[in-house]
Parts: sequence; structure tokens; C-alpha cells
Amino acid sequence: MPSQIEEIKQRLDLVDLIKEYIQLKPAGLNFKARCPFHNEKTPSFMVSPEKQIWHCFGCGSGGDHFEFIKKLEGIEFVEALRILADKAGVKLDYHNPEVHSRRTKLLDLCDAAASFWQQKLKTDKEAELVRKYLAGRGVADQTIDDFILGYSPDSWDETIKHLQNKGYSLLEIGQAGLSVIGKQGKPFDRFRGRLIFPIRNVHGQTVGFGARKMKEDDQGGKYVNSPQTEFYNKSDILYNLDQAKAEIKRLDYVILVEGYMDVLACHQAGTKNVVAVSGTSLTQGQINILKRYTENVMIAFDADVAGTLANLRGIDLAWRAGLNVKVIHLPAGQDPDDLIRQDKDQWRELVLKSENFMDYIFAVTLAGLDLTRVDHKKKAAQQLLKVISQLGDEVETAHFVQKLAGDLAIAEEPLRSKLMEIKSKNTGSQSTGPAGQAAPLTKTINHEEVLGERLLVLLFKFPGQIGVISQKIDPEFLGQPWLEEVYKKLIIYYNKNQSFDFKTFISEFPKERENFLNKLALLAEADELADDPVVLKQEFGLLVLRIKQNHRDKKTKILIQQIAQAEREHNHEKMNQLSQDYSQLISQSIE
Ligand code: CTP
Ligand code: MN
Repeated sequence: MPSQIEEIKQRLDLVDLIKEYIQLKPAGLNFKARCPFHNEKTPSFMVSPEKQIWHCFGCGSGGDHFEFIKKLEGIEFVEALRILADKAGVKLDYHNPEVHSRRTKLLDLCDAAASFWQQKLKTDKEAELVRKYLAGRGVADQTIDDFILGYSPDSWDETIKHLQNKGYSLLEIGQAGLSVIGKQGKPFDRFRGRLIFPIRNVHGQTVGFGARKMKEDDQGGKYVNSPQTEFYNKSDILYNLDQAKAEIKRLDYVILVEGYMDVLACHQAGTKNVVAVSGTSLTQGQINILKRYTENVMIAFDADVAGTLANLRGIDLAWRAGLNVKVIHLPAGQDPDDLIRQDKDQWRELVLKSENFMDYIFAVTLAGLDLTRVDHKKKAAQQLLKVISQLGDEVETAHFVQKLAGDLAIAEEPLRSKLMEIKSKNTGSQSTGPAGQAAPLTKTINHEEVLGERLLVLLFKFPGQIGVISQKIDPEFLGQPWLEEVYKKLIIYYNKNQSFDFKTFISEFPKERENFLNKLALLAEADELADDPVVLKQEFGLLVLRIKQNHRDKKTKILIQQIAQAEREHNHEKMNQLSQDYSQLISQSIE
């Protein structure tokens, strides 16, 4: 082993290795960069090609190849060893128990599942319909290979049986997220009769799966994805980053799309610097990862969803993190995949014509309005000044106020005073409101808080939903003590009075809560969600799902930490118990 470690180091130049993950610039004999391990504006992370070591003068960390990979991903030595051996083309002796850990076994398990499903897609008779489906959507064989697409058989346990034959236990299969526990406590295959998209981390290790529905009678959602596991955390993963990262660095920008199919279509059309957020909003974790590769982000989300101020899906986070954000203006109702299939050249043209985020926001906000009408002018000013108020730069601010005045054909003065008003409000009510660039960038918006507040706001607005929602969401799911308190009191209040009146409700709270409650009430008043049963069902449904997911993810993370702790203490009994709990937890359905 020691000789293999040396061999890996000799074959892999440290500068080349680190360059794969962050932007290194020459500095004399050495190279430097902004440290990936702490937040800094001026580079103090140095790499010495001669000594083959790295060191950060800001946070004091440093080491060799192995230390870099370990620290970057928070992984153990064995896993770093595998990643680096793979890169260096050094074959590890897999009979040596030192190259195995519990985690690497689970990663191997995911690989085994991916291969099994890949084989199924290629040869199985049952998969004929999927092969036809892919051909019908214009997915080439090469693309199927590049993304290791697969087919999971339509069976309750074929995949489990296959993996058991390969030497994996039911417990491990559960821990990798591949089984679901049924009502009688018996595990069955999570993915059944579906097109499989293996999801890889930045090193190219398969860590999870997305599975698209293929059959009409499939009762599940359009996509079923791996649950949160030890190595699959959906808010830190960008689909295809492993294949796209070199091109992202070469072109110095990344295109963000929503779905797996969009990535495939772009890749096939020759646009390789593309990654997907996979349906959720862009998260701070994903932004931090992207920032290692480029500062320039181009968004190609479906215009219907990205196009409203109320639903920016995390684009604003990227913009506030100081990235240059541009938006690709897709035709309404089309995603990149639709467009590319229809007209590849138009896609390329739209990429070239992508607009600055602010210009885009102007365009979508003004599009629906009739600017000869004074009420529409007021609405436009209100919405756009809100966004402008978050700009950190004064020149930029002045530029957009001027533009808004021009677009609305009014003087700048009233807009400026209105802007000052909004700005002073912004600083007054901190907590979750858009933070503006003045706020420290390291402070990540607390996702959990946003979800809980949104729930309360909607319940203030639609108290008739309190009964149903209280059946689905326990107070502890909200995760934050003060949100739990308001939620609990709200349920009790409503049950008692069968109606909701903010003034009497607020009187039940101590003075110091008033500001917070008033803020929620204001948000409820300003909210524009339609009082329509279908809309409400959808909005509340999604919120409930997200809150439950968040709650489970949190519990999962704690268990993972406890397992790691027990592992370090060599407490096998405890490890087993916790592993059982963990497997149980992630195998439960929350829908
Ligand atoms: N998604 C998900 N769960 C769902 C629906 C969507 O995880 N129930 C994620 C998937 O990553 C999907 C992405 O959101 O790729 C975008 O969803 P959508 O636009 O509905 O799917 P497409 O990828 O466009 O798939 P298709 O073109 O086959 O409809
Ligand atoms: Mn699509």
C-alpha cells in the first residue's frame, strides 16, 4: 500500500489535480487561488509544484493530494485513495481490507445496481418499450452510454435479489437508498419499471438515482429519486457536474437546467458545460460548489417557472452570492430539451443572446402589464423597486432606476424616494427577507426557516386550511422553536374559535414576538396566491412535502453523524442499531 500511495502521487501532478476542482492562477514559481476551505476575497491558498504540497495562509490548512481530496469532500482516506488511484490509473489491490470501508462498500453497491440496470436496458425484453421511448425522444446510443442510463425491472425484488447475490446485505441495500420497507416490514425495490438516471458526484462516483416513470399504470410520481443517504444529499448535487466540469472551466461559464433530459439533450447537441439542479430550487450548497469552477452562471429554466418574481427558484441566491447571472430566454412552455429537439440552432442562438438577470426580470415583469394604465405602472414600480433595492452597487442601482423611469415614462424622483422607503424597510425586518449584497455572503439563508414562515403566512391567509395541515405537519417538523410556538398556538386558537382574527391572536404573545408576527401578517396580506381549491391544494401539498423532506433529511444527517461516531469508537453494537434506524428512516415513504 505505501508504495501504491507513492505511485499515485508520482503519477498525478498536484497542480493538475487541484486545477480540476478550483481555479488556480500562476504566482511566481507557485500557484494560488481563493481557498476552497474558507470564505475569502483575496487568494491565500498556495500550491507548490516543486514540493507537491498545498497550503492556505488564511485558514492554516494544508497537505498533499490525499489531504486535499479528503478535505474537499469530507471523506475518509480509503475513499480518497480510490478516487486518486482511479485518476492515476493505479490498480489497487482489492483483496487488501485497507482499501474497503463501510462507505466504499455502499458506493460499490450503487455501481453494481447501475451496471445491472444498464444491462437490463440494453438486453432485456421487458425494456423494449424504454428503448423505443428513448429512440422516440431522439436519445442516441452514445448518450445512453455516456450517462449509463438503465432500466429497473418491473418487479418487487429483482434488484434486491441481484444485489444480495452479489454479496450485499438487505441492510446495505436499504442504506444505499435502493429499497423501501413495506407495510409488513418487508423491503422491496424502490425503483420498479423505470428509466434510470444514475446520479454521480463530482468525482464520477455513482451516489444516487433518478427514475422516470415509463408505464401508464405506474402509480408513483413522474420521477422517483434516491432519498437522502450518507453520500447523496440532493441539495449539494448537480447532475452531470463530473462530465461538465472541464468544459465549464474552459468556457468559464455554466448553463443550469432543470432536468435530466435537458442535460442529455444539451450534451448531445454539443453544449457540454451543462448541469441540472433536478427540479428543486438552486441551493446555497450548489452555488458554493459551482463557484469553484466559474463565476458565470446561465439559467435555462422553463420560462413558466423561472419567470415570476415570486418564484425565482434560488436564482436570486446565486445573484446575491456575487455570481454573474444571465438568463436564457426560452419560448414559453419549453424546456431546453423541447427546444433542442425542435431547433438546435435556435438553442445556440438563445444561449448567445442570454440576458442579464436584471434585464430579464424587467422583461418578465413588464410583459404582462399595460403601461398606459396608471395602476399597472404602480404595480411595475412596486415589484421592480423591490428587486432594485437589493442591488449592492450604487451605479447599478442608479442605472436601473433610470431604466425603470424610462420604461414607465415617469420622472426618476418619485421612484428614488419610493426606493429609499423600501430600503429602510428591508433593513428593519431582517430575519428572512432578501438580504441584499450588504449582508455577509457567508450567512446562508436558512431553508428551513423559509419553509416554516411560508407555511405560517399561508395559514394566516387561508385559516380554513389549518385543520387539514395540522393533521399532516407536527409542530416539531418546523425545526425552529419560535416557528413551532406560533404554529402550535395557531392550531389551538383555530380549533377553539373556528375562525382567525390576527388582532386577538397576536395578543396571546409576549411583546417581543410582535414584530415577527406583524411581518408574517404583512406577508400574508401581500401574498397573491389565488383562493382557488386547485391552486391551494397544489401549493400546500408542495409545502407539506418539502417540510417533511427537510425534517427527515435533518434526522438522517444526525443519524449519519452518530453512525460515524460509533464507527470511530468501534462500537459495533451501536453501529448496527443506528444503521437499522437509518435504513428504516430513509426507506419510509413520506408522500
Ligand atoms: N423532478 C423530480 N420529481 C418529480 C418531477 C421532477 O425530481 N416528481 C425533477 C427531475 O430531476 C426532472 C426535473 O425535476 O428531471 C424537471 O422536471 P420536468 O420538467 O417535469 O421533467 P423533465 O426532466 O423535463 O422530463 P421529461 O422531459 O421527460 O418530461
Ligand atoms: Mn422535459
